Amino acid sequence: MSTLSTRGFWGLRDRPAVAWLVLAAAVAAARPWVPKPTWLMVHLVLLGALTHAATVWSTHFSAALLKTRPELDDRSRQSQRLLLLLVGVSLVVVGVPWELWPVTVTGATAVAAAVVWHGIQLWRRLRAALPGRFRITIRYYLVAAAAVPVGATYGAILARELDDELTGRLIVAHTAIMGLGWLGMILTGTLVTLWPTMLRTRMDQRAEHFARQALPWLVVAVVAVATGATLGSRWATVTGLAMYAGALLWWGRALILPARTAPPRHFSTRSVSVALGWLVICLVMLAVLVLQAPTWEDVDHGYKPLATALAIGFAAQLLVGALSYLVPSVLGGGPSVVRTGLAWLDRWSTARLVATNLGLLLVLLPVPDSVKVAGGVLVGAAVLTFVPLMGAGIRAAVTAREDLLTEVAQRPADG
Ligand code: HEM
Repeated sequence: MSTLSTRGFWGLRDRPAVAWLVLAAAVAAARPWVPKPTWLMVHLVLLGALTHAATVWSTHFSAALLKTRPELDDRSRQSQRLLLLLVGVSLVVVGVPWELWPVTVTGATAVAAAVVWHGIQLWRRLRAALPGRFRITIRYYLVAAAAVPVGATYGAILARELDDELTGRLIVAHTAIMGLGWLGMILTGTLVTLWPTMLRTRMDQRAEHFARQALPWLVVAVVAVATGATLGSRWATVTGLAMYAGALLWWGRALILPARTAPPRHFSTRSVSVALGWLVICLVMLAVLVLQAPTWEDVDHGYKPLATALAIGFAAQLLVGALSYLVPSVLGGGPSVVRTGLAWLDRWSTARLVATNLGLLLVLLPVPDSVKVAGGVLVGAAVLTFVPLMGAGIRAAVTAREDLLTEVAQRPADG
């Protein structure tokens, strides 16, 4: 395989997101024996799986939208970055639970370096590209990448022994920068074009316009939440959250027309829709927590449900939804081959979505512990069904492609 080609299977690109997700489920199952299990699960999903996927797919969409030369950022250089990220995340998920601060700092630095390097490569692509539409998507990605070194610094500081009041403030700032800044901006930048593609319909002509208008507000909102929380100002934090929600709804207008023309019927689009709903719920949960908790220390103590909702409701559902569409599409092979792969990933769609969200509600609601455990098992099983289905989908697509090639090769002989 040429180092310029990004088609076909590529272990360092295609495996880590699913591997982190499986590891998160393993930690959930081994809860009593693992230090800081909730932190670990949350970070295996948000920092491991989602950050890897965000890096990979923002590169993919930048290349597709800008149509830049592959040698601008070839496969081996992308692999080096993904490896740096993998090493960084591995160090962080060992360093924080086992309280090895130098390991955490080295890991956080590696994560930040990998994402900044990624941002520089995107910027080079943007400069090299001819003028065209949807450069706004790449601007979203650049803002997102700029958030990571700041969020990682907060993470490294949080890993020190701090008093509970300061921990509460910094956790809110860290979540805002990483969740709303990094992951949120990658999501919003991508869905402007990916959403209609997934629905197989036309884009709203005003989509780019909405995205352009929303971006500065989203940025100001993240800065307001992070600064407000760091300085301990509740009103600034909540105002920032409200501003982010408002800008998100404004941006979301771009999604309405495609969804009206071709309503989400497949697992991929339904899972992404539900994930977006959970993002809004998480914003509300955070605002209510900050407003109602008597002190920032109580914000810290009440954070677990919010972190769980963010990791499972938003992040895990977004990831499996997007990958259910993207993996078969990127493997290619022609429309009939892609359809064969997609059909596998669409199986038991309603049951999987209901089980994930019902399970999550059981985990979040004030119910007896045994019911919460049952909810957790339901979520784990429902989310992880994606893994064998993806394996089967890829195998079916490969077989369909081979059959197609054999058929084509035999045609002249038959004729
Ligand atoms: C450089 C990587 C990162 C490091 C070193 C890091 C470190 C930390 C630390 C030390 C805490 C506080 C733990 C405690 O006091 O209980 C924390 C909390 C949190 N972080 Fe990160 N983090 C990183 C990346 C991320 C990312 C990418 C996200 C995505 C949104 C994220 C989301 C959260 C959330 C939601 C919490 C609060 C929930 C909890 O403590 O379990 N973090 N992080």
